[in-house]
Amino acid sequence: MKKLSVNLDHVATLREARKESFPDPVQAALLCELGGADGITVHLRSDRRHIKERDLRLLRETIKTELNLEMATTEEMLRIALQVKPDVVTLVPERPEELTTEGGLDVVKNFSLIKKRINQLKGAGIITSIFIEADEKQVVRAKEAGADKIEINTDAYAKKSRKGKAGEELERIKKIARHCSEIGLLVHAGHGLDYWNIIPLAQLEEIEGFSIGFAIVARAVFVGLKEAVSEMKRLVCATAR
Ligand code: PXP
Repeated sequence: MKKLSVNLDHVATLREARKESFPDPVQAALLCELGGADGITVHLRSDRRHIKERDLRLLRETIKTELNLEMATTEEMLRIALQVKPDVVTLVPERPEELTTEGGLDVVKNFSLIKKRINQLKGAGIITSIFIEADEKQVVRAKEAGADKIEINTDAYAKKSRKGKAGEELERIKKIARHCSEIGLLVHAGHGLDYWNIIPLAQLEEIEGFSIGFAIVARAVFVGLKEAVSEMKRLVCATAR
């Protein structure tokens, strides 16, 4: 059964918009689990603009499902990951001015540092993933760097899907997912996915799971978080076969 990890950065963003103590991503995580989430994802950014170390530590102590920490390849983030020990670390690029992660990590360009970080994280028993573009060269280098899995950046697919023009991007993702499964890399996908564009991706056997945040938190405004997660979980698991 495919897995759904709910990204809770957006709950923390709402909290930080008023510099309040609510809504609390930790409370949100428990509702996500009740709604059927298989995991919780948070991105601890260098500027701490949404998720804080306090959130990460409390999530580690409270959630029963898989904790996935998205982080940059910095020394600071490595130190935190080794202290908190999330189940999974997903290495992502980070640009201070960006609204959200803008693209995949370039494993070809930053190979030595990424390989080093992967070794350090794996040494502590943490499962490693790299957020990359749907590109053969990136996949090959991700495997060589020792990653357990990759997360395909679905942003281009998602944007095009909202204009009814996602065909080519979908084919690209299919091809990459197939290649990953042939070389023994687990495949996840995420960024920009919603209640409509998830449907074709959920049919792809090679994709093990999805990381989805914005669409779920946005829908939660109308139907509540537990229901918003349940609806997404049903779509993620609704394979044609
Ligand atoms: N995967 C990665 C690496 C991300 O940076 C994000 C956004 O925080 C997501 C998945 C989830 O994207 P969205 O919030 O658009 O569902």
